[in-house]
Amino acid sequence: MENKKYYITTPIYYPSGNWHVGHTYTTVICDAFARYHKMLGEDVFFLTGTDEHGQKVEYKAKDAGVMPKQFVDPLVDGLKEIWRLLDVKYDRFIRTTDDDHVKGVQKIFRTLYEKGKIYKSTYEGWYCTPCEAFWTKTQLKDGKCPDCGREVKLETEESYFFRLSEYADRILKLYEDNPEFLQPKSRMNEMVNNFLKPGLQDLCVSRTSVKWGVPVDFDSGHTVYVWIDALSNYITALGYGSGNDGLFKKYWPADLHLTGKEIIRFHAVIWPAILMALDLPLPKQVYGHGWLLIGGDKLSKSKTDKVSTELTDPKELVERYGSDCVRYFLLREIPFGSDGVYTNESLLTRINSDLANDLGNLVSRTTAMINQYFGGILPARGAEEGPDADLVSVACGVYGKVGKAMAALDAPLALEEIFRLIDRANKYIDETAPWLIAKDESKKGRLGTVLYNLAECIRISAVMLKPYLTVCPDKILGFFGINGETVTGFDTVKTFGYFSGGEKIEKASPLFPRIDVKKEIAEIEKLALSRRAAEKEQKPCESHKNNEVKPEITIDDFAKIQLKTGIVLAAEKVENSDKLLKMSVRVGAETRTIVSGIAKYYSPEEMVGKTVVVVANLKPAKLRGIVSEGMILCGEAADGKLTLITTVSEISDGATVR
Ligand code: MSP
Repeated sequence: MENKKYYITTPIYYPSGNWHVGHTYTTVICDAFARYHKMLGEDVFFLTGTDEHGQKVEYKAKDAGVMPKQFVDPLVDGLKEIWRLLDVKYDRFIRTTDDDHVKGVQKIFRTLYEKGKIYKSTYEGWYCTPCEAFWTKTQLKDGKCPDCGREVKLETEESYFFRLSEYADRILKLYEDNPEFLQPKSRMNEMVNNFLKPGLQDLCVSRTSVKWGVPVDFDSGHTVYVWIDALSNYITALGYGSGNDGLFKKYWPADLHLTGKEIIRFHAVIWPAILMALDLPLPKQVYGHGWLLIGGDKLSKSKTDKVSTELTDPKELVERYGSDCVRYFLLREIPFGSDGVYTNESLLTRINSDLANDLGNLVSRTTAMINQYFGGILPARGAEEGPDADLVSVACGVYGKVGKAMAALDAPLALEEIFRLIDRANKYIDETAPWLIAKDESKKGRLGTVLYNLAECIRISAVMLKPYLTVCPDKILGFFGINGETVTGFDTVKTFGYFSGGEKIEKASPLFPRIDVKKEIAEIEKLALSRRAAEKEQKPCESHKNNEVKPEITIDDFAKIQLKTGIVLAAEKVENSDKLLKMSVRVGAETRTIVSGIAKYYSPEEMVGKTVVVVANLKPAKLRGIVSEGMILCGEAADGKLTLITTVSEISDGATVR
């Protein structure tokens, strides 16, 4: 009989280079699912990769003075290294710059065009460069990108459009007929109410102003707009559109697209519509998970670097605590589907309580007692008594319970079920008190049974843990004389009584050393602060750039900067920051929120009523969660001290400064 197939995908990652632990969330979860399904005996294909095209990369490469491909190559390598460290075992790492992907996307685009699903027109829309997304006026939030809150620009150009508007009813019907298609439920409501019911608009799918992307092969000058390029990876990775589509025939449709919630619209609305237009089967399920939050915000490297001393670099985390600890935290801590707060303290507490205490102690106590009382030879199992029946029933139930949790895509619950057995076994030690039984030689048989039962519970737990943790389960099995690598399925966990007795049991070395949380956090903080100080020294730009001679610019270059006078109407300190002031600044007809790093030099009271010079066309940026709409000019002395630039005589706010 042919094996059941299981095709699971992560989104393909933007090659940002600033990878943080939040980025690893989707992929570690997918890896656990892939491993779990492999152990069920299924024929698994696990896809991940990178999403390398688009204006943002084009600009960054230009800034760096290299070609876009050259720019992304090392970033992609960096991401692969993170997956290696975290023991993520994918079957393909697709890059949107791969030849077969490019050809596949061209074929998809052409097919859609030939089927009349794509047409040429003119696009006018509000484009957010960082998000690579076009928005309609009504979708904008206070005139800014509804996703990131940044400035958008009105762009008009000749573009191809995908007839997305024709698919709203079909997608609503898809949801109705397949309530499991989009999970969790809340995401489906969001899609229905925010996008499908109001009606879909046709989607711009090519750009002429962007060069870094897949060229439309029948209309030179047009580049496939990123989302068709990116989403198609799920089928081009299997050879769709190439001469060699054996994998596509075997694995498509995907069983699960796992993505973060912010890109659900693309996966649960646009992607199904594209597939419908191509007459291809739809993925069976799309799941939009929540975010790892830091300080109430989506974890992002730039933020953590500035405002927090949390350690978030996945490489460093693996170096300090090992891949199993990081994987365990990601898979266990956050109720699946919801957001969860990331702190080093929560990570360390998880490691200590679950891994070092519950699991580590169970293994070390059991193997120590088998060595102490039976010379390291596992005794045989005798008659059942006392709490044995309950222990055995918990152990035998784990496989089914984990199966249920995994079918509901609930990895945290699956781990909870395994740890329920570990907890039960620890409680069993307390209930049976083997050290007391050991005092009575006539009870040697009972002592043997207790230790045998514990060994079985540990064996079952270790096998069940294999999809989630990749180092310690095999290590544990090794203490019990089992080569973990040979355990490729769950066959041995469905019944209690695998050991025959007589097996050589090794005294376990510590699996997870207990971490002194306070000390460790103090060390991490020190590390973060000293790093920040070193960075400042390395980048004397803030204060010592005074001496730097910048290249000459033309009057046209200067004219790009719009300087205006403003009057500070209100000012307050930004919470938990000794540097930042948040101000309301009237600039002619509008009042802006501006966050400025002048709190050390000016009190809020001093600022109110001051006339300031505002860089009025600066791209808004979020500082401590506040969107700052411009910058206030200051003079900076060699020692870094700031002095406000103001006017010598009165001038109305909103006046041009030149
Ligand atoms: N390139 C697009 C996806 C295209 S798929 C056809 C993209 N890339 S991404 O690099 O921004 O995100 C990759 C994955 O990381 C997404 O699933 C995203 O949700 C996830 N995460 C990034 N930061 C995260 C957190 N702080 N928390 C949890 N997951 C987050 O989107």
